[in-house]
Amino acid sequence: MEVQASAGVGVQANAQITGPIILLGPPAAGKGTQAKLISQTFGIPQISTGDILRANVAAKTAVGLKAKAIMERGDLVPDELVCDMVVSRLEEADCARGFILDGFPRTVPQAEWLDAQLGKMRACKKGDVAAQRACAAPVVIRLLVDYNVLRQRITGRRSCPTCGRVYNVYLQPPKAQGICDVDGTALVTRPDDEESVFAERMKNYDRQTLPLVDYYRERGRLVEVDGEQPVEEVMAQAFAAIENVNRL
Ligand code: AP5
Repeated sequence: MEVQASAGVGVQANAQITGPIILLGPPAAGKGTQAKLISQTFGIPQISTGDILRANVAAKTAVGLKAKAIMERGDLVPDELVCDMVVSRLEEADCARGFILDGFPRTVPQAEWLDAQLGKMRACKKGDVAAQRACAAPVVIRLLVDYNVLRQRITGRRSCPTCGRVYNVYLQPPKAQGICDVDGTALVTRPDDEESVFAERMKNYDRQTLPLVDYYRERGRLVEVDGEQPVEEVMAQAFAAIENVNRL
């Protein structure tokens, strides 16, 4: 993965600073779907650790070779490997007004690491209030979705390997079956969306990621949204959360 240098990239005084946003929720809760909408509207990048790992697996990098079997069985990739990936990504110039973390953090050690990392970033930007807001304490949007709904979303999910757009054969089908509306590419199914792997991912979510709800609630950063509503409703509530936090 190529890391762009961010040194010298300042934040324009009049540019809106959205700051960091975390999307938290179980597999298929809609984190990726909402992250793309937030990214388009607020003009900040979506940083999906799952997408970065899948790109590394496809490219057979050292990270990808370590992560492949772990992801295929539905386990979490080791914290240090994921944190190293995230720190490189946060240094890129497009994070200068904020960023959306989709699928990160996923364990309490990852959350503690992120808080420390954001603290260091703010310290480096001392005296530049706008730049400090871009790496302020994150707003955490938790998407709540029932297990059976998640299972239907997982089995119906298809995605475009070219543009990354996500569809669902039951709930949000493409106009032509199996073909991306945007670029005409044949849609694919993720290997970890098989039902037995999904069950394993859910177990790991409950055991390792759910404690983050208390972690962020105790710090007053958690906003809960009913993720079973239509995409547009979820989006409206997520946007309201982001804008309310920005007014504080
Ligand atoms: P990752 O890619 O992050 O997978 P995930 O968290 O399991 O989440 P998904 O991508 O499955 O779902 P989503 O919430 O983004 O839902 P989506 O919007 O696609 O991680 C994969 C693996 O990588 C992990 O298992 C782990 O091994 C590793 N990994 C990643 N990050 C890691 C980390 N930090 N630490 C350690 N390991 C890590 O939507 C799902 C479907 O539902 C779609 O079909 C969509 O169209 C549909 N849909 C979405 N919203 C709605 C709605 N409101 N109504 C109806 N349908 C909807």
